[in-house]
Amino acid sequence: MPLFDAYWQQPLKEQGEKPKDWPHLWKDLQPSSCASCHQEQHQAWQHSLHANAFSPGLYGQFSTMSAREANACLNCHTPLAEQKFSTDLSLKDSLKTPQKHALRKAGVSCAGCHVRKWQRFGPPPKGSNQEGLFKTGVHGGFIASKDFEKSTFCASCHQFPKSWGTVNGKAMENTLNEWKASRFAKENVHCQNCHMPERKHLFKGIHDSKMTRKGLKIKVFKRKEGAELSLTSEWIGHAFPTYITPKVYVQAIATSKDGTDLQAWEWVIFRDVRFNQAWVEKSDTRLMPNETRRYVVKQLPAQTTQLIFRIRVEPDFYYKGLYKNLLTFTKDQKALSQLREALSLTYKNDYTLFEQTLLFKP
Ligand code: HEC
Ligand code: HEC
Ligand code: HEC
Ligand code: HEC
Ligand code: HEC
Repeated sequence: MPLFDAYWQQPLKEQGEKPKDWPHLWKDLQPSSCASCHQEQHQAWQHSLHANAFSPGLYGQFSTMSAREANACLNCHTPLAEQKFSTDLSLKDSLKTPQKHALRKAGVSCAGCHVRKWQRFGPPPKGSNQEGLFKTGVHGGFIASKDFEKSTFCASCHQFPKSWGTVNGKAMENTLNEWKASRFAKENVHCQNCHMPERKHLFKGIHDSKMTRKGLKIKVFKRKEGAELSLTSEWIGHAFPTYITPKVYVQAIATSKDGTDLQAWEWVIFRDVRFNQAWVEKSDTRLMPNETRRYVVKQLPAQTTQLIFRIRVEPDFYYKGLYKNLLTFTKDQKALSQLREALSLTYKNDYTLFEQTLLFKP
């Protein structure tokens, strides 16, 4: 039983009148209410980026926007109608204390994915294939649909934009299409299989070094002359990385016995798109699923005793430049401090994914 067509039609409609005969707990959209009975999902979700999607980097950009413009962002970041701004005035007001509105603060919340017109929707119960209405005695039961187990469920927010087309033939975030072209689509491995293992609401991605490491096979070895790092995208159901915002650096550094750097090499894995009157793509060196890339140091300086191979990840590379730019012309004091906070968070997210040293006799 497929979900009804408008399930993800943005903007979502309000839930409407609350069922009169329900106790308060069933009529509360706050994740903390769902948590009284669905503790396991809440535990995992609250540490995910979905729970943090109403972020300083987002609302720091709202000071120059109308409610209509900000609400267009919220379609993906806080998708419920009940999380939106009602008027320009309410937007202005709420930006003084943005985190005060508890439901908006909940970002991509439980109800955003699971509740429409107060009706709960979910996957068929574990171990069953049965779809349709389940009567549970709580919150009017739930409607089970296998659509919850499919990649298309995630696409309304992770495949965009829908309104103005592509840059060099590819959407800005082209995750669903990349997945469709991969072996994972043929093997029926959906987004949920990797990002919600055993239905756990983890949603880990490139901000988590263990998740990223799990997706890649990395080999480092000496060649007749020089050395090589080979990188294979083994367990990533889309481009590595899928969005335009992360940047990955593969580095090699040759050092001598006394520890001085003799020579350094660097390659980037990155889709470089920039806005200059229109969006243009400068380059795209991302790895597609199953692809292997070889990074070769052809020749080492004679005195080399060590060659260090390193992979560095900047999950929020693009935002560093964006926030710095916004900081130069944003006037609103509150927005300035939000953008500064967002900028400092982008640096905290940087990490070293991999490091290995090869020894040489000079
Ligand atoms: C008073 C307890 C209670 C509260 C509060 C509650 N639920 Fe439930 N919910 C249940 C029970 C019981 C079931 C049926 C069995 C199960 O899956 O645990 C259920 C089932 C579900 C299902 C279907 C699971 C499946 O197998 O597909 C979803 C989705 C769901 N709830 C979402 C929510 C959300 C979202 C909230 C908060 C807005 C919420 N529930 C609040 C008790 C509750
Ligand atoms: C981004 C969308 C999204 C959010 C946010 C989300 N869920 Fe889910 N939820 C799903 C999907 C998709 C599945 C089915 C996963 C699968 O079948 O692999 C699911 C499954 C479930 C189930 C059934 C679990 C089972 O073991 O059968 C429950 C209950 C549930 N969610 C409750 C919640 C609660 C409570 C929250 C908030 C704390 C929440 N969900 C947040 C998408 C979401
Ligand atoms: C309502 C919109 C929406 C839906 C539906 C949605 N997401 Fe997201 N997702 C977001 C937003 C917005 C973020 C960014 C949160 C942030 O950091 O502000 C995000 C972040 C993520 C991340 C973290 C990425 C990183 O950079 O580490 C993963 C993984 C993810 N989503 C997977 C999924 C999967 C899998 C599904 C389907 C089960 C899904 N999402 C459904 C809006 C959505
Ligand atoms: C079509 C859905 C969609 C819309 C509309 C959207 N975003 Fe996002 N946004 C995302 C997703 C998905 C991510 C996470 C991407 C990833 O990790 O792949 C994200 C990430 C971000 C981030 C970085 C993470 C964070 O929360 O700090 C910022 C900032 C952001 N978006 C701002 C905006 C602004 C401003 C607008 C409106 C002009 C907007 N977004 C509109 C889907 C959307
Ligand atoms: C075979 C496992 C697998 C599948 C299938 C998969 N992913 Fe991922 N995904 C990963 C791994 C591993 C990472 C971390 C490395 C990376 O960022 O590419 C990741 C990263 C991400 C990120 C972080 C942002 C970025 O720029 O990389 C988002 C968002 C995401 N996945 C969404 C999705 C969505 C949506 C789908 C389904 C259309 C999906 N993933 C399918 C394994 C998978």
